[in-house]
Amino acid sequence: MFRCRTGAATYVRRMKKAVVIGATGQTGRVVVRALAEDGWAVTAVSRTGGRDEQWPGDVREELLDRDDDAALAKVVGDGVELVVDMAAFHRGHARQYAALADRIGSAVVLTSGAVYEDGRGRSFDTQGEPDGFPEYLVPLPETQPTVAPGDATYATRKVALERELLALGERLPVTLLRAGAIHGPGCRTPGELYFVKRNVDGRRVRVLAHGGRSRFHPLSVRTLAELVRLAAARPGSRALNAGDPAAPTVAEIGAPRTR
Ligand SMILES: NC(=O)c1ccc[n+]([C@@H]2O[C@H](COP(=O)([O-])OP(=O)(O)OC[C@H]3O[C@@H](n4cnc5c(N)ncnc54)[C@H](OP(=O)(O)O)[C@@H]3O)[C@@H](O)[C@H]2O)c1
Repeated sequence: MFRCRTGAATYVRRMKKAVVIGATGQTGRVVVRALAEDGWAVTAVSRTGGRDEQWPGDVREELLDRDDDAALAKVVGDGVELVVDMAAFHRGHARQYAALADRIGSAVVLTSGAVYEDGRGRSFDTQGEPDGFPEYLVPLPETQPTVAPGDATYATRKVALERELLALGERLPVTLLRAGAIHGPGCRTPGELYFVKRNVDGRRVRVLAHGGRSRFHPLSVRTLAELVRLAAARPGSRALNAGDPAAPTVAEIGAPRTR
């Protein structure tokens, strides 16, 4: 509750409620903090129910497996203005939103740049095939075709999730954030480790596939948190690419820097 006194009158304004699913991971913990600092009353959900030391004290942590429909409905309760979801992976998760649409104001759901295919039908799913490595447009617009929805792979499941969420339309405005390669504190598998470890070991040679010309647009957890904050402030039904201001090649990411 938020109170302010103006002259003789006292107004009481209820803080808007947000639920963040996957709150303790590398993205969730930063998003929770950004929303709380922006004035949201945040419930931070994960299966282990932990909390981050940088969260303001009024963030409420909740232990929940999001695959438990009844438990998820209980966390949403009579209604929340916003759900932010870092742990949505397939059409079953989209159907949870359909069931709760009348109790959620809007949602922001993390998907992936892995949904796209290139002009020759190649995608992350064909990387292991001869001539299967995708070559995407730079820059890559959101209108680029995606792989077909399905249950077979990470990418096809994300597309199935996306399509069902966008089909909710005005019933529930959902912003899909198609993330690039996420980096920042709390990352359990940092891509930069390859360069850092070789450097620490004194190995001067860096072996780079494709001459280091590959790009997978990086996305800092802080950039992502700001995108979530902005999308929450202006709900809509849309798919947006989420990346940092710059998209360096692998060679540029690993290049020695002088101070
Ligand atoms: N990493 C990348 O480069 C990248 C790129 C594109 C898109 N993405 C997307 O980013 C998202 C992952 O975000 P992240 O990097 O923050 O992941 P993360 O660090 O692995 O964290 C995952 C979070 O989700 C929680 N969680 C997992 N399953 C859950 C469940 N069934 N119910 C409730 N909470 C659950 C985890 O906590 P508990 O284990 O305690 O439940 C944790 O809080 C995914 O949607 C992924 O597709 C990642």
